[in-house]
Amino acid sequence: MAMVTKRQALATNRKRWDALVPVHAKSRFYSVQDFKDGKTSLQSVELAEVGNVRGKSLLHLQCHFGMDTLSWARLGARVTGVDFAPEAIRTAKSLSRELKVPARFVCSDLYELPRHLKGKFDVVFTSYGVLCWLPDLPRWGRVVAHYLRPGGAFHLVESHPFTQLLDEGGRVPRLSDRGQYFNSAEPQAYTQEGSYADGTLDRKMTSYEWSFSLSEVVNALTGAGLHLDFLHEFPFEAWRRYPWFVKGKDGYWHPRKRGFAYPLMFSLKATKPA
Ligand SMILES: C[S@@+](CC[C@H](N)C(=O)[O-])C[C@H]1O[C@@H](n2cnc3c(N)ncnc32)[C@H](O)[C@@H]1O
Repeated sequence: MAMVTKRQALATNRKRWDALVPVHAKSRFYSVQDFKDGKTSLQSVELAEVGNVRGKSLLHLQCHFGMDTLSWARLGARVTGVDFAPEAIRTAKSLSRELKVPARFVCSDLYELPRHLKGKFDVVFTSYGVLCWLPDLPRWGRVVAHYLRPGGAFHLVESHPFTQLLDEGGRVPRLSDRGQYFNSAEPQAYTQEGSYADGTLDRKMTSYEWSFSLSEVVNALTGAGLHLDFLHEFPFEAWRRYPWFVKGKDGYWHPRKRGFAYPLMFSLKATKPA
């Protein structure tokens, strides 16, 4: 792979995310019409772990086109969503206006956010497919800590880094020969038309992803001064990542064959000391 700088990699990723927004907004995966009809886009893990948000200020990092942000607002939170893709923010603002759900949306790279957004929040939230886009986890941890008020809580729900070792095309669970667990300075390049949602782009586009380990995520947060309240691991995923998955009644994707209990997703809560 030709070497790219972090800046080039992030710019390439932003271009692809911009192009994916209209495709995702039309996809069954996101089912925007159900959301407009009042269905929450949040899943049971974050609903249970974040708990009651009524009256709380909530910052949603890497909010995509804002359905989760607006779902928290429907539950009574005062929300701010952040994403670096202009098309994602444009669509999020338009949904907020159309549905009359108040929200603030900010278009910014996560690492540049302190230059664009002031304030402290009761809750910082981010979920499902966010960490692989971030080249520098310690710096990410400092951004999270920066936005929490003393006593405020950070919640993350994410694919388990163990999944980076599994072959996504395999008909049965097996290790991939491209698998990488620990964070690497160089990202892996992928060139494809599709994404985790159904629907495809009209052309192949490249993205750059960084692998991460569980300890790197935890240490990024504790290193930024946060206290780890819990770390949970789950044997299911939020999207149809492998051909050997079936959708469960809980909305998550589970291994078809019973007895496969791989760590496929994790969540954590970390608090800023009061
Ligand atoms: C997989 S999506 C998050 C999905 C979200 N949970 C949802 O389902 O709506 C990842 C998001 O991260 C955003 N993103 C990637 N790199 C970013 C960065 N450096 N700064 C801000 N946003 C970024 C992308 O634009 C995209 O909207």
